[in-house]
Amino acid sequence: MPHSPAALRLGVNIDHVATIRNARGGGHPDPVKAALLAVKAGADGITAHLREDRRHIRDEDIATLMAALTVPLNLEMAATQEMLGIALRHRPHAACIVPEKREERTTEGGLDAAGQIDALRPIVGALNEAGIRVSLFIEPDPAQIEAAIRLDAPVVEFHTGRYAHLTGTERAEELRRLSDAAALAAKNGIEPHAGHGLTYDNVGPIAAIPQVAELNIGHFLIGEAIFSGLEGSIREMRRQMDLAR
Ligand code: PXP
Repeated sequence: MPHSPAALRLGVNIDHVATIRNARGGGHPDPVKAALLAVKAGADGITAHLREDRRHIRDEDIATLMAALTVPLNLEMAATQEMLGIALRHRPHAACIVPEKREERTTEGGLDAAGQIDALRPIVGALNEAGIRVSLFIEPDPAQIEAAIRLDAPVVEFHTGRYAHLTGTERAEELRRLSDAAALAAKNGIEPHAGHGLTYDNVGPIAAIPQVAELNIGHFLIGEAIFSGLEGSIREMRRQMDLAR
């Protein structure tokens, strides 16, 4: 990893490079090429979500990423037997368990880990046993952190979607929830990450939460690349994160 443990890592989510590729059915733009460029621009890791409907990343992308990357791959996956099999076959550095509904546009809300401990336990256990770093994508809620502790998850990723969409005092309140949740997770030996909906304008306060070790950012960076190139958008995000830290 290019950054020290105290530094904040940036994971670049390349899903929407694949969204554009899939719009025309060919191979361009290549998400693996984008991942390598992202690393050159300062990404500490690459994140990709293999959805049940394969709407962006596909199975062969995971194989190609695993072969090409020199930085950790964080595979976002639903808690299903199919995805567990894929994770165990490819053995990415990390697996982030996300809730998935076929009809949603993106991951809406965090995983209800507290409400499905028994269903999650064998999946988290199998990933832990395989040496894949498990992360649970949860709301900044003490009950969900408690579930992560009970499940023996080494990492939680806090869903920042609500924070990103709120304004004024409501946003400030959500930021406090995120900050308290990061402190609670860290106190219990769980590494807090954060992501969803982060942009140049809203990343600062999240990057400033001292316990947060990693941000995973996708849609904004890929969209902004239209205007400033992928390297440009990633370098600017990295700069904003470092400024806030
Ligand atoms: N983290 C997780 C777990 C996600 O599911 C997503 C969206 O796929 C992100 C981070 C990145 O969110 P965004 O694309 O809004 O930056």
